[in-house]
Formats: sequence, structure tokens, C-alpha cells
Amino acid sequence: MAAGAAAGAWVLVLSLWGAAVGGRNITARIGKPLVLNCRGAPKKPPQQLEWKLNTGRTEAWKVLSPQGGSWDSVARVLPNGSLLLPAVGIQDEGTFQCRATSRNGKETRSAYQVRVYQIPGKPEIVDPASELMAGAPNKVGTCVSEGGYPAGTLNWHSDGKPLIPDGNGVSVQEETRRHPETGLFTLQSELTVTPAWGGAPHPTFSCSFSPGLPRHRALHTAPIQLRVWEPVPPEVQVMVQPEGGKVVLGGTVTLTCETPTQSSLQIHWIKDGTPLHLPPSPVLLLHEVQREDQGTYSCIATHPSHGPQESPAVRVIVEAEEGPIAGSVEGQELGTVALVLGILGGLGIAALLIGAIKWRRQRRGREERKAPENQEEEEERAELNQPEEPEAAESSAARP
Ligand SMILES: *[C@@H]1O[C@H](CO)[C@@H](O)[C@H](O)[C@H]1NC(C)=O
Ligand SMILES: *[C@@H]1O[C@H](CO)[C@@H](O)[C@H](O)[C@H]1NC(C)=O
Repeated sequence: MAAGAAAGAWVLVLSLWGAAVGGRNITARIGKPLVLNCRGAPKKPPQQLEWKLNTGRTEAWKVLSPQGGSWDSVARVLPNGSLLLPAVGIQDEGTFQCRATSRNGKETRSAYQVRVYQIPGKPEIVDPASELMAGAPNKVGTCVSEGGYPAGTLNWHSDGKPLIPDGNGVSVQEETRRHPETGLFTLQSELTVTPAWGGAPHPTFSCSFSPGLPRHRALHTAPIQLRVWEPVPPEVQVMVQPEGGKVVLGGTVTLTCETPTQSSLQIHWIKDGTPLHLPPSPVLLLHEVQREDQGTYSCIATHPSHGPQESPAVRVIVEAEEGPIAGSVEGQELGTVALVLGILGGLGIAALLIGAIKWRRQRRGREERKAPENQEEEEERAELNQPEEPEAAESSAARP
């Protein structure tokens, strides 16, 4: 009797609630039996009551009464007027209504909105990464939740905080599949993160499944802990425009210092091994290039946590412009050639003169031996000839 009273009280509570909201939301686990009570119905037959249901199995409203019209495998009216669904399926989601008339002729209606659910297996992170590389997008792993209903959602967490995909440092690729027979969902969520330089060295990642129904607990994966590896940043290098670093006098050269992480770096420039006193900039622009701009250039990138890194040097070659400048270069070359020829010519003439003087002296000597004249005259001539020789040599050498 006590149990009956308790049941009655329970029915009353449900009845009042149902009346207040005009229909109850029921969530029933797939595969389990579901009993829906018909408020106001006499506990035992004979009863005047009727169940109406509109679900995924019915085309429109289906009417069930205790007298007949049983729909055995799916739903049947129990002797106490309640409706039993022996094993709820996705198809049973829908609206259920009962209209009962009590012994004293009072009519009572009940209404239920039935939704079903299935708890998926514990989500798992498959293919987890072993380590992550700072500054690059890394696949952390794929979170998989299998066999849930309704679909629900997968969410990632790192070090206890939710990871919100921003398409920048955090991105998630999701896939939802539905089993063709059971209608249950399989969710996949692949997480890609770009760990920041100097960030947490051993972040943890976990994934949780949030059911698509209120008052249902989330399910969490075991966390995975990964190591963030900070590689030496890829080499710093200078890109030069125009290509090859060849520029005409008065032209423009653009040198760009390329670094892996542009933002946090200070770029300084070096020409022929000497730092240029310019404000830090990743771009060095040489306008109206002069001959003295020719040389080798390199850049130094200073990273707060890695120290300075110098790029290999690139050459800037200043070429003469075609036209008047090219002509003047040729003129200079011709001048040099003329000078050399002039000197050679001068030396040749000097050699000839020396040769001629020597020949004259030898001939004179032979004449003396043939016809010796008086000694005094001879000595006088010798004195006159003596200074003649160096004078002639000097004057001829000086002449170009
Ligand atoms: C039942 O669910 C619907 C939507 O799912 C909601 O609007 C309504 O407030 C719920 N009713 C109760 C009694 O919880
Ligand atoms: C009717 O019977 C079913 C099964 O025995 C029980 O679960 C349900 O609570 C009963 N309904 C009422 C209103 O007592």
C-alpha cells in the first residue's frame, strides 16, 4: 500500500509539472525500455484512454488503445494505462500524448516530447604527435568519439584551458560520420597548433566530448604531454633586387633580409664587414647608386632568445651605364696606351741616338789611326767630345 501511495505521489508530481509546462521533455537511452504514464487513468481496466504518438516510425499520428491496436514490438499500453516502449530507438523520437477519462468522467491529457541519446565510448586521441616544433604548424593528434547520439561536439584543451580555433595558431579539422545502420555518430577532430617561440616547453593536450543534450556530462580523454622543440631558426639570408646584385650607376638596389620570424627581430646591415649606422630595418634601399656603393652586404638578425645571426654576404656590383660614361672609360684606356707607346718610342729614339754617337766616335777613332793629325788638336777634340755624350743621352730620354 505504501508503495502504491508513493507511486501515486510521484504520478501527481509529474502530472503537476506536465500541466505547468504543457509537456515534458524525456530523454531515453537508446536500447533501454521507456515507460510513459498516462495521467488521470484508472490503475486497472476498464479504462477509457487513448495514446497518440507522432514519431520517426509513424507517418502521421498513430493511435494506440488498451483494447487492441497493439504495436507489440514498438509500443504497447500496459494494464495500468502507461505506455511501454521495450527498446527505444532513434526512430522513437517524437511526441507522445495520452487522453484519459477517470471513473467520474474527468478528462486528463498528458504530453511528452521524447528524445533519445547514446553515450559514446570514451573519446581517444589517435596518432598523437611525439613532439612539436616551435614556430611551425604541428598536428597534435586526432580526437575520436565513436557511437554517440545525438552528434555532440569535440573540444580541445591545452593545459586545462579550452583551445579556441582561430585559424592562426590553433586550427581544427572536424569530420562527422553517421553509421548507416545504427544512425550513431562518429566524430573526429584533428588539432593543429603552432607553438610560440619561448612558450610552454611541455604542454598537455586533452579532448572532451560534449553531448548535445542538457544535463549530460562531458567525457574527457586522458591528457597527452608533448615536448616543444625549438630548432635553430632557419638561416637568415639577404635577397637582392635586381637579381644578381648588378646595378647601373644611378640605379636602385633593394636588399631584403629574410628571416623565419620577421616580427620579433631587429635587423642591422653590414657593408664590407663594417656595420652601417642606420635604424634597424629588414629592407635596405640604395637609391642613385654610386661607385662606392659597390661591395658585399649582409644583415644581422637579433632575436631576443637566440642572439644575433648573420646572413651570408651578397655582392652589389655597380656597372657603368652605356653611353658617355662608357666612352670616357675607353678614352682613358686609349690615353694609357698612347702614354706607353710614347715612352717606348722615346726609349727607342734614345737607343738610336746613343748608337749613332757611338758609331761617330768609332769612325772618328778609325780616321785618327789612318791619318794622325797633331796631338794638341786631337786632345782638344777629345775634350770637346767628352761632355757631348751624356748631354745627348739626357735630352733624348726626356723627349717622349
Ligand atoms: C523541452 O525542450 C525544448 C527544446 O528542446 C525547450 O524549448 C523546452 O523548454 C523544454 N521543456 C522543458 C519542460 O524542459
Ligand atoms: C505502470 O506499470 C509500469 C510497469 O509495471 C510501471 O513502470 C509504471 O510506473 C506504472 N505506472 C503507474 C502510473 O503506476
